[in-house]
Amino acid sequence: MQDDLGPGAVHLPRFLSIERQRALVDECRALVDGPVPAYVPIVRGGGRMHVRMLCLGRHWNGQTYKYESTRADYDHQPAPPLPPSFVALARELAEAAGMTIDADLCILNYYDADGRMGLHQDKDESEPSLAAGLPVVSVSLGDTARFLFGGLRRRDPVAATLLESGDGFVFGGPARLRYHGVTRIIPNSAPRELALAGRFNLTFRQYDVNKL
Ligand code: SIN
Ligand code: MN
Repeated sequence: MQDDLGPGAVHLPRFLSIERQRALVDECRALVDGPVPAYVPIVRGGGRMHVRMLCLGRHWNGQTYKYESTRADYDHQPAPPLPPSFVALARELAEAAGMTIDADLCILNYYDADGRMGLHQDKDESEPSLAAGLPVVSVSLGDTARFLFGGLRRRDPVAATLLESGDGFVFGGPARLRYHGVTRIIPNSAPRELALAGRFNLTFRQYDVNKL
């Protein structure tokens, strides 16, 4: 599929080797079933999300749509720290896309065969971070996702792209607030070496601009 994504949006197909994917999948598994486990957020209005979510570095509260240090919408546990290797990975992908990031948080989502995410903007990071166009850096692992990438208004046309295991996707600058979502997961499409049913997606962001 040919990507014509416009300025500030870069798809990096198969960026990660299968060895790196496998190591990351192991880390993701340990995190989502660790002492501060992933959970299914219930968002404002009462809907359950169709992913299991774990935030690292800062917690995104699905009731307030704000970031906080402890999970006030769930179990009041502190968000686990963002591993330094994740910060380095985000930087590597951003650089490959011609951008910079010093990530201070990651939202790790697990999608099962019924996983999906409605069209939305990522706009809950700090005002200076959004104003600077600091990118969202996404890494996909496991089953392929049908990813929608739209415009700055919800009603703008959307393009569908497949995000496969090992792909990076970076959107910053003029693309930072573009609508996006996941319509569906293609079951059993993950590389066999990963022995993973479903999909992990990591999105790195930099909330705090003073770190630049
Ligand atoms: C997100 O928009 O937060 C997740 C995108 C994805 O799963 O690819
Ligand atoms: Mn998003």
